[in-house]
Amino acid sequence: MLRVDSYRDPLGVALRYPQFRFMGSKHRLLPWLYEVFSSIPFHTALDAFSGSGCVAYLLKAMGATVTTNDHLHFAYHIANALVANPGRVLGTTDLDRLLRENDEAPHFIEDTFSGIFFTPEELRFLDNVWANLGLIGDEFQRSLVITAMCRAALKRQPRGVFTVANGKAARYHDGRRDLRLTLQEHFIESMELLRSVPYDDGRPHRALCMDVFDLPIEYDLVYLDPPYVPRSDDNCYIKRYHFVEGLACYWHGYEILRSSKVRKIKKKYTPFSYRRTAIPAFDQLFHKFAESVIVLSYSSNGYPDLEVLISLLRRYKSRVEVFEAEHRYHYGTHDRVRPDRALVREFLIIGA
Ligand SMILES: C[S@@+](CC[C@H](N)C(=O)[O-])C[C@H]1O[C@@H](n2cnc3c(N)ncnc32)[C@H](O)[C@@H]1O
Repeated sequence: MLRVDSYRDPLGVALRYPQFRFMGSKHRLLPWLYEVFSSIPFHTALDAFSGSGCVAYLLKAMGATVTTNDHLHFAYHIANALVANPGRVLGTTDLDRLLRENDEAPHFIEDTFSGIFFTPEELRFLDNVWANLGLIGDEFQRSLVITAMCRAALKRQPRGVFTVANGKAARYHDGRRDLRLTLQEHFIESMELLRSVPYDDGRPHRALCMDVFDLPIEYDLVYLDPPYVPRSDDNCYIKRYHFVEGLACYWHGYEILRSSKVRKIKKKYTPFSYRRTAIPAFDQLFHKFAESVIVLSYSSNGYPDLEVLISLLRRYKSRVEVFEAEHRYHYGTHDRVRPDRALVREFLIIGA
């Protein structure tokens, strides 16, 4: 388990956080975020759109009591396993029990995705792990297993996105190690890697899975990294990650769109993704968290414009400051086709 030396070296601890192939992850910006957060006094913090969870982990390492939130199940499990978790990991006996062949395992994943993603054996492996998950009683350990399954699937899938099925995805096979390992091998590697991430610092952190507008409001600092309406492409998390989102809850509560070639699930609505609703949504968001210090991430390739966001924030905050960094995104952009598109300017807008 990780030693709790985060008081001495918060950034060093945060940088041990694993990278997920998650669109919009701020992992590479952690040193800069650390610098900016260091200028703000806070004891409690909310990461309201936690995604891969790396920023919440930084806030934890900086000594805050952290609440994470994301409306996607797989993002919730990542944060519950790695941020909220006070160090509960699985031993080798638990892992053996998890991997044991279970004759009663359902075949839902194999039946639904054979010929679309992975091999039938790999899909059966996921069905089997899910069937054995009931043997793990602790909610943090269960989240850890789900996180390892999702991480394995993201690594094994060409480009880490589930937009194209096996046949078309084959053109992205370039012999790299991630594509050569089986899903089972990735899972075991992930379980090993992830066990060193959660730690207990004596504070009651928690992970939530709800719409941002339903959250409580009692935090000193609120970090906001919503999806932005893109100038081009689209930013739909479900389109890219529907397989891991379904996997995180065994597709319970989700209806698979049978007309979809890759067996997608329905989009999750968020007002931040549409031009018509984004500006009122930001206004509502700033109003909601008006009592907290607000730190908003913004990229130059998003809508609305920076000036619009600043003026909205000024409605609720007397002091608004803007910090700028440069950041090259690696996932979710077609950087092979148009290299300039991958280079965006990143801003942090602070309202106090
Ligand atoms: C840009 S990503 C966050 C990235 C994260 N900061 C990181 O470093 O990995 C935006 C996240 O907001 C979540 N999201 C979008 N709309 C939401 C809503 N209305 N309520 C809660 N979460 C939402 C998405 O699921 C996605 O994970």
